[in-house]
Amino acid sequence: MQLLDGKLTAEKIKARIAAEVKTTMLDAGKNTPHLAAVLVGEDPASQTYVASKEKDCKEVGFISSVYKYEESISQRKLLEVIRFLNEDPEVDGFIVQLPLPKHIDERAIIESIDPAKDVDGFHPVNVGRMVLNMPSYLPATPYGIVTLLEEYGIGTEGKHCVVLGRSNIVGTPVSILLSRKNKTGNATVTLCHSYTPDIKAVAASADILIVAMGKQGFVTADMVKKDAVVVDVGIHRIPSTETKTGYRLIGDVKFDEVAKKCSFITPVPGGIGPMTRVSLLLNTLRAAKKEIQY
Ligand code: GUN
Repeated sequence: MQLLDGKLTAEKIKARIAAEVKTTMLDAGKNTPHLAAVLVGEDPASQTYVASKEKDCKEVGFISSVYKYEESISQRKLLEVIRFLNEDPEVDGFIVQLPLPKHIDERAIIESIDPAKDVDGFHPVNVGRMVLNMPSYLPATPYGIVTLLEEYGIGTEGKHCVVLGRSNIVGTPVSILLSRKNKTGNATVTLCHSYTPDIKAVAASADILIVAMGKQGFVTADMVKKDAVVVDVGIHRIPSTETKTGYRLIGDVKFDEVAKKCSFITPVPGGIGPMTRVSLLLNTLRAAKKEIQY
């Protein structure tokens, strides 16, 4: 078994991005890439995610800014903020951290973002372009998954990929990416969800198993074919007496037993998490270079 080291791979990609920012962008007199984030309320997980994005930007030499608002902000005011960011020529791309408070219609907010600045790839225009194999921003986690496979030379062509979980931000888009006609696709994909009969048998037929169910320790060794590639997108905090923080992180896969049977596996932490973060930087770089014509 070999680890698919997302942390190491993300560091390598960040070094490439930093070098590109330094040479081609700054030396050529172009603007430094600028990522903005909109954060509403006090959700601790959202605060952590946004703080990580700021740290990542700093590491590669991007500008980052955060627009923070109280939980009580109205939808109208939030739409105004987005209009401002859409029009600000200094901002290359931005994200609105989710989830939003219940009184705000998340769809309406996402649809108000200029697709050319939607570096999360959540706008229906970007989702549609992804489905049609047109240039678009790819959602960060699916993008991170296909990049990690590619960096390890794990081809997807002709493979049977089984995806567990059909969320809008992971399962559904990664199933599309893997089945598209291009170098990180060309797989036969089965997308499993709560209505799939005998999910265990389907999982056990996978050459590449992508697990994004949000159920800790769901995948056991009997659900994995010998020498399969296993990608664990789950992340859960569980209490631990062995760490200073009092908790540790685990995924949707029972790592110890599955690792003995598969050829490659992502650890949690240090697998898909860092790849997701670096994918947002890659999208921001593309935005700064105005690579995609809308
Ligand atoms: N909340 C959880 N994941 C994400 C993400 O990728 N983007 C945004 N905007 N919010 C999130």
